[in-house]
Amino acid sequence: MDETVDYAAIAAGLAEIAAEVSVCTACELHKGRTCAVPGEGPVNADIFFIGEAPGRNEDETGRPFVGQAGHLLEDLLEKIGLTRDDVFIGNVVKCRPPQNRDPRPEEIAACSGYLQRQLELLKPKVVATLGRYSMEKFFPGAKITKVHGKAERQGKRVVIPLYHPAYILRNMAAMPDAVRDMQRIPRLLERLEQVLADEAVQGIKPPVPTPEPEAPTGEQLSLL
Ligand code: URA
Ligand code: SF4
Repeated sequence: MDETVDYAAIAAGLAEIAAEVSVCTACELHKGRTCAVPGEGPVNADIFFIGEAPGRNEDETGRPFVGQAGHLLEDLLEKIGLTRDDVFIGNVVKCRPPQNRDPRPEEIAACSGYLQRQLELLKPKVVATLGRYSMEKFFPGAKITKVHGKAERQGKRVVIPLYHPAYILRNMAAMPDAVRDMQRIPRLLERLEQVLADEAVQGIKPPVPTPEPEAPTGEQLSLL
């Protein structure tokens, strides 16, 4: 916990978003929902995972990633010593699309303010997108098969695109990559914290990437 952060205000902000989402009628998806799924996680989460949309189990419980894809996400988190309670987990759209169809552009647009506000409140150091819909928000036009695992600094955070767990379940050949991509996260977080601390001391952003003598995996952290 960071003493300079007003966690009560963050909790209140997140609760307000959840309350708004539960009665939101800004797009068609509200018609089919049982429960909206605003997202969940601790107020001091450093890492924010963003999926696509609630599925059946999520719609029934109001909680993100509680079905099969959720189990795989939990398994992947375990590889880096984390549980779902350590991270914030949200989605691009908060209500389940009928028959789990892909969310439409107008639905994503209608819902984007909620995700935006969650990000502004939590200020996560690492944003990990799951699948192409959340990737598109941070890497417009990118192809997931090309950019998965390639982190980029965006402002004060690092964004890393990951495969969607449901995709991995359908394509188990992607599993080794998915594990490797997930395993980049702790080091990214550590390096970002260091870079931000250095920048705070210098009062400026360094013009060139900090040299990195002992980087073992070649993970990418663009400092631009
Ligand atoms: N898939 C998603 O993208 N989000 C969930 O919450 C569950 C499955
Ligand atoms: Fe509102 Fe988002 Fe649900 Fe659409 S998906 S009704 S915009 S909360």
